Amino acid sequence: MGSSHSALNFGAGPAKLPRSVLVEVQNEFLSYKDSGMSLIEMSHRSKEYDAINNSAQQLIRELLNVPSNYKIIFMQGGGLGCFSAICMNLMGRTGEADYLVTGTWSHIAAKEAAKYGKVNMVFPRPENRSIPDPSTWKLSENASFVYYCDNETVDGVEFHFVPETNGVPLVADMSSNIMTKKVDVSKYGIIFAGAQKNIGPSGTVVVIVREDLLGNAMKTCPTVFDFAHISKNNSVHHTPTTFAVYVMEKVLQWIKTSGGVDKMAENSHQKSTLLYDAINNSNNFYVCPIEESCGVG
Ligand SMILES: Cc1ncc(COP(=O)(O)O)c(C=O)c1O
Repeated sequence: MGSSHSALNFGAGPAKLPRSVLVEVQNEFLSYKDSGMSLIEMSHRSKEYDAINNSAQQLIRELLNVPSNYKIIFMQGGGLGCFSAICMNLMGRTGEADYLVTGTWSHIAAKEAAKYGKVNMVFPRPENRSIPDPSTWKLSENASFVYYCDNETVDGVEFHFVPETNGVPLVADMSSNIMTKKVDVSKYGIIFAGAQKNIGPSGTVVVIVREDLLGNAMKTCPTVFDFAHISKNNSVHHTPTTFAVYVMEKVLQWIKTSGGVDKMAENSHQKSTLLYDAINNSNNFYVCPIEESCGVG
């Protein structure tokens, strides 16, 4: 295999990136746009990085059809850091939040949230890999937000509907399915995703946040996690992961020229159908523990 970049990589993340993007990065690595410098040697306040930063935001806005009353920010700390950041930015509003726990990552997020306020479990964690019928959910009136993981990477449980929260801001972790399907962003308070699974290398987290939710951070919220502060400073309030955002911008560009989210949804469906079919046609050699309605999209 060596340098041919031909390995079949099924890793959830960091995951395979388009070869053309990697080649472009390789070609530009020593001298970005004939500057005689590598992008990773440049200031995050340079005009070069400013263009990349703005373009990455614009591409996300375009690809996901993000309405103008939403900000797009890039932060560090990974998905796990964002579990805390969500609470530190929103939970102070009422001191409590509702959690839909459908697998490993929402479970970890709920545990993290308990450090910041009262966590209401909307339903007991299902023993099988499924989503309880929404008619059985116990949403609380005083929740500052309702949290869920749109695609449980470890457990394989994916929502194929948007949870109804009766006006309470909905927060979604889309780390492992962002850009694999169309999303009506207007139904959400916050959507976040670690870049390393679907849209770039590790290091940066994309947060799409409705403007009216900004400015509620707890006094103890570190500045680097304060969404309002990050947004006001166009995600360069402190040194961001410039390389990660740079590669992500190229992947987003690649998604756009490859046919956008519609095409990614088609590809994604094709890939998961292949896998699910192989399991289902294996005469029980393989078994699929995921309830059908939460499986292949
Ligand atoms: C859905 C989901 N959320 C959060 C995380 C945690 O992200 P990180 O490793 O960037 O903290 C992961 C996986 O790593 C994930 O799959």
